[in-house]
Amino acid sequence: MITRIGTVAEMRIVSESYRNQGKRIGFVPTMGALHEGHLSLVRIARERTDAVVVSVFVNPLQFGKGEDFDRYPRNLERDAALLERCGTDILFCPREEDMYAVGHCTYIDVERLSSVLEGEHRPGHFRGVTTVVAQLFNIVRPHVAVFGQKDAQQAVIIRQMIRDLHYDIEMIVAPIVREADGLAMSSRNAYLAPSERTAALSISRGLRKAEEMYRTGEKDAQVLARTVEREILSERDMRIDYVAVVNPETLVEVTIASGAMIAVAARVGNTRLIDNTLLGQESAEK
Ligand code: PAJ
Repeated sequence: MITRIGTVAEMRIVSESYRNQGKRIGFVPTMGALHEGHLSLVRIARERTDAVVVSVFVNPLQFGKGEDFDRYPRNLERDAALLERCGTDILFCPREEDMYAVGHCTYIDVERLSSVLEGEHRPGHFRGVTTVVAQLFNIVRPHVAVFGQKDAQQAVIIRQMIRDLHYDIEMIVAPIVREADGLAMSSRNAYLAPSERTAALSISRGLRKAEEMYRTGEKDAQVLARTVEREILSERDMRIDYVAVVNPETLVEVTIASGAMIAVAARVGNTRLIDNTLLGQESAEK
């Protein structure tokens, strides 16, 4: 049976009790509207730890003005049922007034890594992410935390935060889970009209083309980036925010693509989608 916890105080007590029993705690932070991508992280936590905590909190601080905070999909009953089926022990749903009490004025900023790629297009986004994840780490006190490669930059930034703030947490980054046709799973896919969803497939198609070119010897980052761009723009409704070939740890742009990551952000209608691939790797798990 899954136990729902809605207060910080209760979450602390339960976490402390797991620790006193010598249980290792696995943690998967989410914003809900769960899909197979999220559930794959839960299964990894399940395999590696004794007690699995999943948080569902649509974090207002990581949404910019005019972004989709208000319309972000919320379906807690469905989420709870899915989580229970894959062996989650605790569903932690903190209240906004607990996470950001009146007078809250402490923020976590991971500099440099937060200012490129997504950071350029969504100013303040990662400050919101790291501030909430730091709070959640302090409340849940996990031994292991699982994140998805889907949000590659987020994973890099949180790894840096863990290092810089001396969190005693093992971080696992799990591969991107895709729909059968290649579209990276995302809670935001629910926004897509059928024609937009078809157009959005150009992102994963472009990445696959670039991977194939890389495998057959093309190592020029610019050539690979152009290939992805061309494929995306072959769909009339697509707009590109960026296609960047970067070092997957430093996020610095490279000219030679060996071991690099191609990161993409594109828009279709009002929906913004991100995707990426690690070149020369069968699996994104690190
Ligand atoms: P959310 O978008 O709900 O994602 C929660 C976790 O699921 C993240 O680690 C994300 O990378 C992972 N994930 C999403 N889609 C995935 C896919 N297709 N394959 C594999 N993993 C996938 O990321 C956030 O929430 C928030 O920023 C959060 C970390 C919870 C802080 O608010």
